[in-house]
Amino acid sequence: MEFEYPKNFARFYDLIYHQVRDAADADYFQNEACHSPGKVLEIGVGTGRLYMNAFNRGIDIYGIDISESMLNVLYDKLERKEHYRVSRQNILDFNFDFKFDLIIAPFRVIMHIPDKSDQLKSINNVYKHLNKNGKFIFDTFVPDLKQLINGLNDVTDFEGEYKPGKRVKRIVSTTPDLMNQVINVKFRMEWEENGRLVHDEWSTPMRYFFRYELEHLVERSKFGKYKILGDYKGNELNQDSKEFIVVCQK
Ligand SMILES: C[S@@+](CC[C@H](N)C(=O)[O-])C[C@H]1O[C@@H](n2cnc3c(N)ncnc32)[C@H](O)[C@@H]1O
Repeated sequence: MEFEYPKNFARFYDLIYHQVRDAADADYFQNEACHSPGKVLEIGVGTGRLYMNAFNRGIDIYGIDISESMLNVLYDKLERKEHYRVSRQNILDFNFDFKFDLIIAPFRVIMHIPDKSDQLKSINNVYKHLNKNGKFIFDTFVPDLKQLINGLNDVTDFEGEYKPGKRVKRIVSTTPDLMNQVINVKFRMEWEENGRLVHDEWSTPMRYFFRYELEHLVERSKFGKYKILGDYKGNELNQDSKEFIVVCQK
């Protein structure tokens, strides 16, 4: 059930995703957090790529994640007295003795939960932790059918320096499992360390969703009201949408 992000993936996560992802989603989530009347929770907080923006703006934000390696990167960014805000918990059964006005699970967190009863349990656990009128926002990508079927074969999707003069490269391959509605993603990291080229590999399944499955899923949950946006500017779904951004309201 759990696919823990390993150490060498966590290590280069910020370098890669601040560059390739922030422009898409950071303003949207920051804006939502700023407009929250009370406490905010980020589920799948990871290294704090988004969390730190909100925290530095004085938002009363908490975070949970199942990956120790990812959380260790985030703990290093926070003063010790703030560590209580971040804990190692699973979306399925996390627990707080207070509630939130906004809960977000940004950047594919739900896609790490393949099983439909676990998905439902997770969403209902979020519901339980929201105040009345509270909001839950999660996202998944709109499946690209051509890429789903053909997969990716050793595509270099990132190359850069992690320290002056020290290069790192990420190579991605994907294989579809159409029957289980999963894309098996293999990441290979290659980097220079102590004068040598070293590498590490990690594979993880990602459960993809189509629009009406998402609608059925949320409609089976305790949330009565929801909408699905097609981008982080707040536009409705259209033929060119690349994202499903599901906004559920208690
Ligand atoms: C792509 S990362 C997103 C991290 C961060 N939200 C961001 O936007 O950069 C997905 C995160 O979800 C976490 N995750 C996966 N399954 C989870 C679960 N069942 N409960 C909590 N976190 C989970 C992973 O460990 C990972 O840190």
